[in-house]
Amino acid sequence: MADFSSPLEAIGLRALRLLDPETAHKLTIQALRLGLAPGGAPTPPERLAVRAFGMRFPSPVGLAAGFDKNAEVPRIMLGMGFGFVEVGTITPKPQSGNPRPRIFRLPQDGAVINRLGFNNQGLEAARQRLVARQNAGTATRGPSGIVAVNVGANRDAADPVQDYATCIRTLAPYADLLVLNISSPNTPGLRDLQVGSRLDALLTAAMAARIQSGSNPPIVVKIAPDLTEDDVGTIVDAAVSGGAAGLIVGNTTVARPDTLKGQFRSEKGGLSGKPLMARSTEVLGQAFRAAGGRLTLIGTGGIASGADAYAKIRAGATLVELYTALVYEGMGLLTRIHAELAEHLARDGFASVADAVGSDHRR
Ligand code: FNR
Repeated sequence: MADFSSPLEAIGLRALRLLDPETAHKLTIQALRLGLAPGGAPTPPERLAVRAFGMRFPSPVGLAAGFDKNAEVPRIMLGMGFGFVEVGTITPKPQSGNPRPRIFRLPQDGAVINRLGFNNQGLEAARQRLVARQNAGTATRGPSGIVAVNVGANRDAADPVQDYATCIRTLAPYADLLVLNISSPNTPGLRDLQVGSRLDALLTAAMAARIQSGSNPPIVVKIAPDLTEDDVGTIVDAAVSGGAAGLIVGNTTVARPDTLKGQFRSEKGGLSGKPLMARSTEVLGQAFRAAGGRLTLIGTGGIASGADAYAKIRAGATLVELYTALVYEGMGLLTRIHAELAEHLARDGFASVADAVGSDHRR
């Protein structure tokens, strides 16, 4: 039985789950914008503070891309206790995405399948919101905090690489971290950018666009959990030589484990949530070994507890992110993860997250 941060949230979650997932999500974003967020989250335990990408993160636990596609609520989500928030995926032009229905809950599996296809309001709408956030300063509307901006290509892009460059030129000044999403399964051809030579070309264009932007946020590449170990090695080398600072491992999977029970398990799209935990952590470990300290890794996929977050850190993640578990557990989950993660670190004698990163590989 889930334990919620407040009875109100418990009622809210149950009501939201009676709605179709996309309507529920829209209402959640609207409620957050109206200031109806659950009460202020406790500050994460000090032991969880971690330095990465030249910044101090109050917690290693961030909100993954896809929740706030249009950069509408990053401050509010930071105020709810996330160590950082990733907005997007943002594409140059607005686009409506695939036909509905396109999000499916698999409650028995703690999972979701989505084939949204980068529905978003486009670069200009996101830019305006991110400018407003910067101008609001820290005093007026909650804490500032670290915002990662995740960018991608429009479905009809003639040259997808140029779409990334366009987004970077415009959004780099408002991003603490830029994420190149080359791993969504819902935009045909997008995942092909993970091939070594194409990733080289993408990173060359991304670095040039960043220089043109006049800002210098670190660039990280978000990869799929469906890669072979050889692919991971090639991507790591291409990322390092192309000037990327890190990798996010990873996006949703096109695989369908035999264990899935939910009635929508055969829907097309990317599977997220609990069934993704083991596979995405394995790929994360492969990336950690291949990188040998040359990249900072963000572990994403199936985190639903402090033990899961800790497993990602031990496999090599300095930071972690989650999305799907929030759908089922609500915001109380984050406080529980913080407490549990701090307990795990203390129990194993790690004074900080940094000490535990990759510790599975040192045994
Ligand atoms: C996503 N995810 C995602 N990722 C991304 O890079 N850009 C996006 O626009 C989206 N959109 C999106 C929508 C929905 C409904 C879901 C469930 C997920 C993927 C997400 O950021 C994350 O990588 C995976 O969901 C794995 O983490 P969880 O959900 O298992 O914690």
